[in-house]
Amino acid sequence: MVGKDDFLNHLLRDDYFSKPENELLIVDEMIDFFIAAAQTTKTAVGNMMHHIIRHTEMNQKLLRDIQMVVIEPHLKEDAPVDGKVDLDQAFVYERLRDMDYFTNAFNEALRTDPPASVSSTYYLT
Ligand code: HEM
Repeated sequence: MVGKDDFLNHLLRDDYFSKPENELLIVDEMIDFFIAAAQTTKTAVGNMMHHIIRHTEMNQKLLRDIQMVVIEPHLKEDAPVDGKVDLDQAFVYERLRDMDYFTNAFNEALRTDPPASVSSTYYLT
């Protein structure tokens, strides 16, 4: 979620974090999120690409998902000038969220090849 309801905005509105003396905590949290997010997301997307390239059927189902859930509603609802697909306008969060095949495939890729396969909680208990 991005915008006024995104996570950084929640932190900035939080009583504790918004105290001037705690400003460095926000910076600290952001560095934490950046490190936690970057490699995991990169690996997850890379693994997904690997599966798509190897499996033609998966590739075709994903293309169908994009066509049905993103492109067709875009052409119908946004009615782009000259009838051409505008990818920036088409790929909005609300449509991506409805891409069931993509979501299931991505979850399956996370399950078979977890980018972070260990948990500190798991090891400590
Ligand atoms: C596919 C992407 C991701 C995977 C597979 C993943 C995986 C994980 C796992 C397994 C843990 C638990 C680590 C442990 O138990 O020690 C964790 C924790 C965490 N992740 Fe992610 N993560 C992903 C994306 C992100 C993103 C995008 C962010 C931030 C924007 C993020 C922020 C964090 C943070 C802050 C923690 C620590 C939570 C805590 O304090 O308990 N992660 N992640």
